[in-house]
Amino acid sequence: KKVGIIFGGKSAEHEVSLQSAKNIVDAIDRDQYEVVLIGIDKEGKWHLNDQSSYLLHAENPKLIQLNKSNDTVAVIPGERDNQFIHASTSLQVDQLDAVFPIVHGTLGEDGSLQGMLRLANIPFVGSSVLGSSVCMDKDIAKRLLQAAGINVAKGMVYSKAKKHQISYSDAVDQLGTPIFIKPANQGSSVGVTKAATEEAFYKGIEEAFQYDHKVVVEENIIGREIECAVLGNTEPRASLLGEILPQTEFYSYESKYIDEKGADLAIPADVSEETTKRVQEVAIRAFEALECEGLARVDFFITEDEAIYVNEVNTLPGFTKISMYPKLWEISGLPYKELIHTLIELAME
Ligand code: DAL
Ligand code: MG
Repeated sequence: KKVGIIFGGKSAEHEVSLQSAKNIVDAIDRDQYEVVLIGIDKEGKWHLNDQSSYLLHAENPKLIQLNKSNDTVAVIPGERDNQFIHASTSLQVDQLDAVFPIVHGTLGEDGSLQGMLRLANIPFVGSSVLGSSVCMDKDIAKRLLQAAGINVAKGMVYSKAKKHQISYSDAVDQLGTPIFIKPANQGSSVGVTKAATEEAFYKGIEEAFQYDHKVVVEENIIGREIECAVLGNTEPRASLLGEILPQTEFYSYESKYIDEKGADLAIPADVSEETTKRVQEVAIRAFEALECEGLARVDFFITEDEAIYVNEVNTLPGFTKISMYPKLWEISGLPYKELIHTLIELAME
């Protein structure tokens, strides 16, 4: 079977995607699958095989070099980008049996790429257009989770067009302090800050608006950060749990990928069997409420009195060396290679 691996992309998580793709490419069973590498560079150009392999293995610019161009929002209505049309023509996409899109963030994880693959009629790993797009938008995802009776952090939403209406005292009245400030459509905590003063709050808002025209602010939930991996289509199953033990103020981009001492992971998490079961149930309910398919990593907060909050759902979670998703399956009895195989099989179901 011929499997295309699409990676890179124009989002702020470009480098994270390269790391994820490297691991998947190394793990995929070459006896079963012929791999076609399809890399998207930061300018949005598509590269095939050798060229693409160069992109994948080129000395990585430091992960910290974030792409703050805000084209995450502007590229669609702005400049026309016909790259994908050229790419899909030269690719002879109809020759691919499946695609594993491992592009995190905007245009890769938000339903755009998924829409293109659907148009091309190629099976692909992960959620389709709707599930991808609702999970990418923290505001919409939270509304759907709430409607499904799942606890989420109290929050407010601001749009860039109405920035002048944002008031710190209103936010504090509603949410207390400190306040989390997040671009609505981002991953890997890019552009996320935690503010305990008025000055930090407005600075955080400016920072978040560099990545998106919509910003979500949330109360600070005091609790343990627990993650659960979900796998499957119509009958999804949930993995054992992992815990993030950030050594910094919160689990930021730096603590994830740059600072080696940024966060410890406890895998499996030291959580009672009963709580594990409850979390797994909520993970599956969230997966279904948000129309996910194939895979997702559901991120939680669990408070001292064992209340379970969903923080977010990631439809294309990281597959880097430090990433939870494959590790959680590993301890749940599904080794990396088999996980990749299962994901590709699920895509073709
Ligand atoms: N957005 C990153 C890749 C994650 O969820 O792991
Ligand atoms: Mg995320």
